[in-house]
Amino acid sequence: METITQKRPAVVVAENEVLARTVAAEIANLIQARNAAGLSTVLGLATGKTPILLYQELIRLAQQRTLDFSRVVTFNLDEYYPLESDSPQSYHYFMYKHLFSHIPIAATHTHVPDGTLARADIASYCAEYEQKIRQAGGITIQILGIGENGHIGFNEPGAERESRTRLVTLSDTTRRNAADDFGGETNVPREALTMGIATILEAQKVVLLASGARKARAVQQALAGPVSADVPASYLSLHPNATVYLDPAAASQRR
Ligand code: F6R
Repeated sequence: METITQKRPAVVVAENEVLARTVAAEIANLIQARNAAGLSTVLGLATGKTPILLYQELIRLAQQRTLDFSRVVTFNLDEYYPLESDSPQSYHYFMYKHLFSHIPIAATHTHVPDGTLARADIASYCAEYEQKIRQAGGITIQILGIGENGHIGFNEPGAERESRTRLVTLSDTTRRNAADDFGGETNVPREALTMGIATILEAQKVVLLASGARKARAVQQALAGPVSADVPASYLSLHPNATVYLDPAAASQRR
């Protein structure tokens, strides 16, 4: 018999700039402390509008403190499929633009799922992605955003607790929200590669950031509703060390 322990994530509400500064300082402090102890730091990273301010702040801190990234390894949550890495909508491009090109990290230490694989190679590639995370020592801290439908990574409603890195079909809501970036919904890929819920829950620490009223309902469901595949972010209640950082608008439906 499986015992499922539920512990709601801690919640912090503040203006976006404060949230970005707080989380960036936590990451920078973690890297410094682990460097001092001779340990690597494995960052699980998200893309999208939400973490941009966080990455700006992390870049600023990295420069200010001349942070040593030689022991830092990163794994991104997801990538559209199929999509070329140099396409401006790709998460490879996003990470290079918003973070990797501004910090002294070796390209061999950064991992973003490959949207250019042949379909026949996807399953083995995804198993290898999981293997690489394990070989790196597991994710030290995982950064997440949340979709309006409660998705984390591209784990759309229906995603299972035991899911791992895999190919998924994107929901209509997710594709609609990406339409502007792709110059119309029809151009948005129908599929994506994403870490799974089990992959995310194995991180030592999980941080979810949300801003704006459009996220308020999903946030409320994730924090106060039942743990359910209908709202994948609700699985964070199964994590012993998860914190949700909300701006006042994203926190506005909390009761
Ligand atoms: C992106 C990701 C997604 C986003 C979510 C919110 O790597 O995993 O789950 O975090 O769709 O996106 P934004 O921040 O653009 O509202």
